[in-house]
Amino acid sequence: MSQNKASNIILKKEATLELLTIKQASEWASEYSKKKVTPSNISYLIQYGRIRKNGSNGSTLIDKQELIKYYDSYLGKRELEWKGLLGEDLNWALSFDHLKEADTTKHVHRLHPYKGKFIPQLVEYFLDDHTDDYKKEIYFNKGDIVLDPFCGSGTTIVQANELGMHAIGIDVSAFNSLICNAKIGKYDFVDLDYEIKKITKALKQFITDSNTVKFENKLTQELTKFNNKYFPSPEYKYKVALREIEENKYGIEKENEFLPIFTNLVKEYDIQLTQDKYNSFLDRWYLHHVRTEIDFTCSLIKQIKNPSTKKVLSIILSRTVRSCRATTHADLATLKHPVTSTYYCSKHGKMCKPLFSILS
Ligand SMILES: C[S@@+](CC[C@H](N)C(=O)[O-])C[C@H]1O[C@@H](n2cnc3c(N)ncnc32)[C@H](O)[C@@H]1O
Repeated sequence: MSQNKASNIILKKEATLELLTIKQASEWASEYSKKKVTPSNISYLIQYGRIRKNGSNGSTLIDKQELIKYYDSYLGKRELEWKGLLGEDLNWALSFDHLKEADTTKHVHRLHPYKGKFIPQLVEYFLDDHTDDYKKEIYFNKGDIVLDPFCGSGTTIVQANELGMHAIGIDVSAFNSLICNAKIGKYDFVDLDYEIKKITKALKQFITDSNTVKFENKLTQELTKFNNKYFPSPEYKYKVALREIEENKYGIEKENEFLPIFTNLVKEYDIQLTQDKYNSFLDRWYLHHVRTEIDFTCSLIKQIKNPSTKKVLSIILSRTVRSCRATTHADLATLKHPVTSTYYCSKHGKMCKPLFSILS
């Protein structure tokens, strides 16, 4: 084929491309899928390499054909598949398939991770006295008493309270009861605010001049440089999705390439990575500096006089402690082995590091 002919074909292809801005793409996708697709949903698809970013001079444009391909690969298929498996009379409304994670998490599930919770909308469906096409029966009314003998992290209790019902919860686990009570307790917000600020200030002071903080700042700078060079976003993820890059091989290669930078910084800043003891979960799964901060914060919470402030701050510390385990982002649920150095993170498509401080 002559060069002229080839470039004509490329030009023709570009001319037939229908490019949309992020806002136009979200409007088009909402119409096409009959579900609300927000501009941030579209940005997410780009960020995670599901669709490609076109355009130049800072403007992002999306090829409509790529959007069609993406939504056709999923749209409507789930409902039909489940009806095929479970029967045509499946009440699809109870799948709450149209809700985003932020909706189902609502106000009740972000406080503390807890396995086995159900979504608040499901509880509302069974408690609330509204009727709609899907729901014919009324189970509870305002002022009724709801008993949940296995109340877990308290979804039922919270929703009942919201709907003006009384609620009693029982749970064999003291920790689950603590989470549950934290969600329905009454607080002195001035006292809570005062204690939070006091503890944060004390923690900041505790780690001032700490070599570990300086080390972590320097490490973050080095990682940013390295990631910009070898894992440019979002191009890298797009290439992985197209299998132009063999992720496992490339990830390990870059992990090994970065390791000497990490090791040198550890030496330069004289960092103790692991703890001296290896007996308890807290000994094994927390880097040395993180553990000292946890113990310090815990000792401050123990001194709090107001019982409800103390309880909710214990939950906040527990949540923080859980987020700071020495593990990879991809392994939060399984915890295979403690991670004490930088690693290739398949979740974020770049090099990441464990946490060296709980402050943020
Ligand atoms: C699936 S969870 C409940 C989740 C809850 N509905 C929610 O949304 O947060 C089940 C709960 O039952 C509790 N449990 C198990 N056996 C129990 C028992 N014999 N008595 C009281 N609670 C029990 C567990 O500790 C767990 O928190």
